[in-house]
Amino acid sequence: MTAQSDMATPSGVPITISNVSKAFGEGTGKPFQALKPIDVTIPAGEFISVVGASGCGKSTLMLMVAGLLKHTTGEIMVAGRAVREPVTDVGIAFQDHLLLDFRTAFENVMLHADIRKMDRAKLAVRAKELFAQLRLEHAMNKYPRQLSGGMRQRVSLIRTLVHDPSVILMDEPFGALDALTRLQVRTDLETLWLRRRPTVVFITHSVEEAVGLSDRILVMSPSPGEVIDDIKVDLPRPRPIVLGDAPEFGAYVDRIHRHFERLGVLHGITMPQATAVQ
Ligand SMILES: Nc1ncnc2c1ncn2[C@@H]1O[C@H](COP(=O)(O)OP(=O)(O)OP(=O)(O)O)[C@@H](O)[C@H]1O
Ligand SMILES: [Mg+2]
Repeated sequence: MTAQSDMATPSGVPITISNVSKAFGEGTGKPFQALKPIDVTIPAGEFISVVGASGCGKSTLMLMVAGLLKHTTGEIMVAGRAVREPVTDVGIAFQDHLLLDFRTAFENVMLHADIRKMDRAKLAVRAKELFAQLRLEHAMNKYPRQLSGGMRQRVSLIRTLVHDPSVILMDEPFGALDALTRLQVRTDLETLWLRRRPTVVFITHSVEEAVGLSDRILVMSPSPGEVIDDIKVDLPRPRPIVLGDAPEFGAYVDRIHRHFERLGVLHGITMPQATAVQ
């Protein structure tokens, strides 16, 4: 296992979210408060997850960090610069893999060369490296329709990481996968993250996935969302998937589930008396 001190020097940059809130439909007379003010400081190279009920504002927060949606109050800083337009040094992954069906897997990954005007030869070297690391060389010249859902998602993961962005924003990227493939992609993501340590903001509905992957987890209240717990996950890396059985892993999961139960996110579930970490 890797001690925290043995990990790669972060290639990531810090993100600071100060007093950031979001109201949709401002000026319509009937604004909708989607997010209450949020304050979070994310150090360079941290892997942070956000969990919370559907509709609590997770995607809204992520889009604002990416500069794709304007915040109503506050300030977001990425690498010390205030976000006022789309951040470019970023890799974004959504729930749907969003591969172009008329391009091969390799050409989908190479999209950055066209969009970002990156050096094609350099990008191709890095792309091939990643296809090899994820054991997907055989898929490189296939079209998305010729690949399984899990393979498509992993190609999409390569596309998110290939230009070595210093910030990676992932919104439920594994939502459409079966449980086994999900574990595989989770392991792949941790391996790739450990190698360069970009700053990652990862949204998931899976509490186990958040605990399995993160340095830190933000728990959000139901809508309008605010951060109600900020949990440091102190588990060694890499984290084997069987960690799910370990008591310390379970304690983190319980702590988050208890929030959800208390907030009415989980109904009709009987939880045993609290023994969780605090
Ligand atoms: N463009 C928009 N205009 C108006 N309301 C919006 C807009 N986008 C999101 N909302 C509302 O803001 C709230 C937060 O939405 P958001 O998509 O951020 O939730 P979420 O936490 O990502 O949910 P899920 O887990 O289901 O993806 C929801 O009530 C949603 O309906
Ligand atoms: Mg969402």
